Amino acid sequence: MDRRQFIVLGTAGSVAVFTGCGGSGGGGGVATPPTGTAPPPASPPVSNPPPSTPVSPLTSGQPLTDLVRLANTSATPNEFAATLVARRASKAMLPGTSTEFWTYDSRVPGPLIDVFEGDTVRIRLENQLSQETTVHWHGLPVPPAQDGNPMDPIAPGASRTYEFTLPVGSAGTYWYHPHPHELTAEQVFRGMAGLLIVRSPTDPVPTAIEEKLLVISDLRLAADGTIPANTPMDWQNGREGNYVLVNGQYQPVLSINPGQSQRWRILNATNARYLRLALTGHTMTLIGTDGGLLRSPVPGLDEILLAPAERVEIIVTASLSSQASAVLRSLPYNRGGMGMVGSSSATIPLLTLTYTSGSTVAVALPSALNPVADLGVPTKTKRLVFSSGMGMGGMGGGMMSFLIDGKSFDPARIDLTSRVNEVEQWTIESRSSMDHPFHLHGTQFQVVSRTRSGVTANEPYLAWRDTVNVAAFETVVFNVVQHHLGKRMYHCHILEHESQGMMGVLDVVA
Ligand code: C2O
Ligand code: CU
Ligand code: CU
Repeated sequence: MDRRQFIVLGTAGSVAVFTGCGGSGGGGGVATPPTGTAPPPASPPVSNPPPSTPVSPLTSGQPLTDLVRLANTSATPNEFAATLVARRASKAMLPGTSTEFWTYDSRVPGPLIDVFEGDTVRIRLENQLSQETTVHWHGLPVPPAQDGNPMDPIAPGASRTYEFTLPVGSAGTYWYHPHPHELTAEQVFRGMAGLLIVRSPTDPVPTAIEEKLLVISDLRLAADGTIPANTPMDWQNGREGNYVLVNGQYQPVLSINPGQSQRWRILNATNARYLRLALTGHTMTLIGTDGGLLRSPVPGLDEILLAPAERVEIIVTASLSSQASAVLRSLPYNRGGMGMVGSSSATIPLLTLTYTSGSTVAVALPSALNPVADLGVPTKTKRLVFSSGMGMGGMGGGMMSFLIDGKSFDPARIDLTSRVNEVEQWTIESRSSMDHPFHLHGTQFQVVSRTRSGVTANEPYLAWRDTVNVAAFETVVFNVVQHHLGKRMYHCHILEHESQGMMGVLDVVA
């Protein structure tokens, strides 16, 4: 993102300057004072859907910008040190208006953290927001005390340093985002999320295959350019915006030579939008998931479903036909929910791939990518039940509640206990009419099977994941092991559900 597009407003603790803050009726304004819009008190469900039609289009068709890298301030080999500042920043999105985001380093998405296996990472977070925050290193095998748990908040005006060493074998596509108690959903939809790549010195994908990073996020803008608060409907279904952005840009353009292959790392950084990705006129080759590369490429995919918080690595090869362009789109996906969930019917263009007049000789992919080791035979089992419903505890009184094992999150309660280094098999059973992406902190798991309507499908290949979609009434089984002692979160990654308590605490003990 071009830094010049940003006008940074305010400094530590200052009251934000809003331009054109009209206070769209009923929305509670845009976080002034910024104590956040915690999950709403019990109130009757409201049936009007969130605004779904953009009032005016954002500028589209700009060349896709590269993510800005977070600079390493350490000169020591195998060490990465930096400071991230959580702060408000404004940017012109709709003509004649200014949109205030909550950001890392005044960027949306946050800066790219690009590190290597074996690196010791030391990142200081300076909280210039007016509410508490944390930084969670989504998917990374870091010790619990360094993982930005909601129990370890950084107060407004305070800072802390996170420190961890990335083990060999952890190469993959991760991300970072806030995780404060009840405030995660809002901090993310206002702009706080960034990509974190862990690289391996022995990456098997030929470097002649150019890498492109795509961070997909959601933005809802009111006509006055402000980002409105969540509606009661958002708290139920999870928030979807009226614009889907790639690297903070609206429908940007990426160029490719006919015959050329590119390696795309894609992050779904939205609060609740399911991305059913498809590229017109092309198939895609899946080479990696959340926690790294697969054993071998999976070619010929017409579509890839990327639930909130999931990442994939794919190879896209531009056809040699007379095509002039292709469009990366998100196809309709029905994820359940109350009323109209916009994405259940719409096809959304995300990015245009334009062909240059040159051509490139194809680069072959190796057939063996990564020796993903089978976690082996589990010696313990766990079963979790997702449920959602009216007045089933939690929020009570007419609001829908989102529960795991019938309970709403309590930071002081330990819900599950595991032994460190012991392989377990977890079964996640959904008794909910909505899809929920299940996420477990601190490790990568291997999905074994998925059961829908009594039919069990074994997972076709081994893959490292930290997030897996559990479709309505589906049961998902995976194997997992934790390597650090301490408390880990597990939760639904529809952030509105997480913020309302669809989360639990796993204590990993000796
Ligand atoms: Cu990406 Cu607990 O989160
Ligand atoms: Cu996480
Ligand atoms: Cu959920």
